[in-house]
Amino acid sequence: MAKAIVIYETTYGYTETMAKAIVAGLKEEGVTVELKKVLSTEVEDLKDMDAVALGCPTFHHDMIGTMKTFLFKMKKVDLKGKVGAAFGAYGWSGESVEMMSDTMKHIFEMDAIEPGLKMKGTEVVTGEKECKEFGKKIAAKIT
Ligand SMILES: Cc1cc2nc3c(=O)[nH]c(=O)nc-3n(C[C@H](O)[C@H](O)[C@H](O)COP(=O)(O)O)c2cc1C
Repeated sequence: MAKAIVIYETTYGYTETMAKAIVAGLKEEGVTVELKKVLSTEVEDLKDMDAVALGCPTFHHDMIGTMKTFLFKMKKVDLKGKVGAAFGAYGWSGESVEMMSDTMKHIFEMDAIEPGLKMKGTEVVTGEKECKEFGKKIAAKIT
């Protein structure tokens, strides 16, 4: 059975809401999924995964530091060819999603789903369906 892990950071909860809906979409397609906050995740958790989804909002045109640190740690694991997906809530620019996608593609040589999914807080409130669809898009690559 295909396996995926969804790892996220959040400050106000919108990216967490996105993460939960993405997990729901993956599960609906029969994928076994783990959902973890970035600080509770070890890079070893990624080893058996077919897909890795990273979620982080944008603050000051950047990722939150915890996700940035985790991306450095991810270099220790061979992720080449695995499916990668990035998502996150934003206010007006939303750079963090592209930053995570770029790193997955160029540094880890993952099969990154582009574009990633970025949503404004107001969109997240009504955006469960779109997040679920993103989860299903990830699932379609690994099932
Ligand atoms: C101090 C501060 C700085 C922010 N900087 C940006 C930014 O540079 N670009 C952007 O798109 N949104 C920015 N935002 C908006 C957040 O990305 C937005 O509130 C997002 O929904 C937070 O996601 P979260 O609920 O997962 O923490 C900023 C918000 C705050 C409070």
